Amino acid sequence: MRIDIITVLPELLKSPFEASILKRAIEKNLVEVHFHNLREYTTGKYRQVDDYQFGGGAGMVLMVEPIDKCISKLKSERDYDEIIYMTPDGNTLNQGMANEISLKKNLIILCGHYKGVDQRVRDMFVTREISVGDYVLSGGELAAAIVCDAVIRLLPGVLNDETSALTDTFQDNLLAPPVYTRPAEYKGQKVPEILLSGDFPKIEKWREEQALERTNQRRPDLLK
Ligand code: ADE
Repeated sequence: MRIDIITVLPELLKSPFEASILKRAIEKNLVEVHFHNLREYTTGKYRQVDDYQFGGGAGMVLMVEPIDKCISKLKSERDYDEIIYMTPDGNTLNQGMANEISLKKNLIILCGHYKGVDQRVRDMFVTREISVGDYVLSGGELAAAIVCDAVIRLLPGVLNDETSALTDTFQDNLLAPPVYTRPAEYKGQKVPEILLSGDFPKIEKWREEQALERTNQRRPDLLK
């Protein structure tokens, strides 16, 4: 997979890719991530990427031309399966969406900023609009990092057996059961006996029951 991220703030985005699982995925060549600074696609002395909105009102809007130039350059180099725009009015990210995106080959992710992008960018180029939740961030960068993390960890070879995505919360529309590690007792708080029993079919059944109970209590909407 190849991901090209278009942003006015590449420095805000880089660190999540420089540690842990994402870093390893890149080192193992399971994914390539490229950052494109929108300012490099501007003309003029001030490298202007945004302007006031027509019709008046507070807040700047990212202009269509630099975005067009950047996307057109990328598209001239390879085909893209998706051009994703990060925006709070997009479809809310969920595991199903992450699974679907993880099957694609080349992605562009466009990060909004200020009041967002000129609507014509969305009309002309964007194939999918994603929100990471019903709250407003200062820009799409952190949201893009969330999408990348959720997607990259699903790519074959990124996780090993112990960290397998198959047992994740949400992967089968259930929350994960509680987990414990050593010590078996801490300040009087004991690990459930069954987890120490070595009876794996029973442990598996207990985990399924716990997952179901937790989902029922916390997220009954997932069971519908
Ligand atoms: N940009 C600003 N807020 C956002 C959100 N909640 N999701 C995606 N992109 C955003």
